[in-house]
Amino acid sequence: MNISVIGAGQMGAGIAQVFAAAGHNVSLNDINQAAIDRGIAAIASSLDRIVRKEKITEDDKNATLARIAGYTDLAEGVGKADLVIEAATENVDLKLKIFAQLDSLAPAAAPLATNTSSISITKIAAATKRPEKVIGMHFMNPVPVMKLVEVIRGYATDDATTKLVMDLSRELGKTPTEVNDYPGFVANRILMPMINEAITTLFEGVAGVEEIDTVMKLGMAHPMGPLQLADYIGLDTCLAILNVMKDGFGRAHHQPSPLLVNMVMAGKLGRKSGEGFYDYSGGGKELVV
Ligand code: 3HC
Repeated sequence: MNISVIGAGQMGAGIAQVFAAAGHNVSLNDINQAAIDRGIAAIASSLDRIVRKEKITEDDKNATLARIAGYTDLAEGVGKADLVIEAATENVDLKLKIFAQLDSLAPAAAPLATNTSSISITKIAAATKRPEKVIGMHFMNPVPVMKLVEVIRGYATDDATTKLVMDLSRELGKTPTEVNDYPGFVANRILMPMINEAITTLFEGVAGVEEIDTVMKLGMAHPMGPLQLADYIGLDTCLAILNVMKDGFGRAHHQPSPLLVNMVMAGKLGRKSGEGFYDYSGGGKELVV
């Protein structure tokens, strides 16, 4: 199939990688060539990692990369798409604009999926004239490793679109799980209050960063503690998701911790900015002192 991925950031690059690795032709779209080059470099380094583990060969890696083409012209990049997956920044106005454009540029039969982590699929679908073909296809980070695809049906999503996305996810070796369209869906509705509570626990001085993460890692067998995971996801993304749930439900436990708000305002966004709860500037993960 021809798969068009919109956005060459962390998630878009990961999505492009897994589709190309499964034999699909992928067009990777972004607003400038530098973003596409960064995305393709990230894919190459992820594939290198898999080669080092001897799970694929150098030839497999090169064949996967050869199936990915970058586009800065959206009309060209989605003109032949059998499926479009949008993975742009988590901003509702941006997504509405992109979906209106996709609706006019992508073939009429193509389903339009979004990797949004919390924005209403129904609202995004309403920006198009094909709401029955709009669906959430929510991958987890790191995309090549995580087995889940949260498949979110909007109010109007039809069975054929849902079946296509469920079948394709299985073909990628993932486990698709179907949920309905309410703020945060299921993954982030449950994950983000835990991360927010961990930040509040730190804010209130109950324990330090390392102690909170150690309790959850060793006590609950989580692969990463909640503060490390927040850094990994991006503190701006965590804040955006909490705000969507706060607005959607009006419940106290979705109110973002003041410490999270402050850190985002200060540009401490986690791994991607070099510092969050930990310091990544030296290449590794150190406690911020
Ligand atoms: N590409 C390819 N392979 C990768 C990779 C990448 N980007 N990152 C890790 N891997 C592979 C490694 O090569 C290794 O492979 P192996 O099992 O064959 O040895 C395996 O994954 C484990 O990696 P490491 O040994 O380097 O490190 P860890 O054991 O610490 O695992 C981790 C890293 C997989 C990221 C693990 O810490 C983890 O699962 N963390 C939690 C991730 C999580 O919760 N993600 C969901 C976030 S929420 C989300 O995405 C939703 C959004 O809407 C916010």
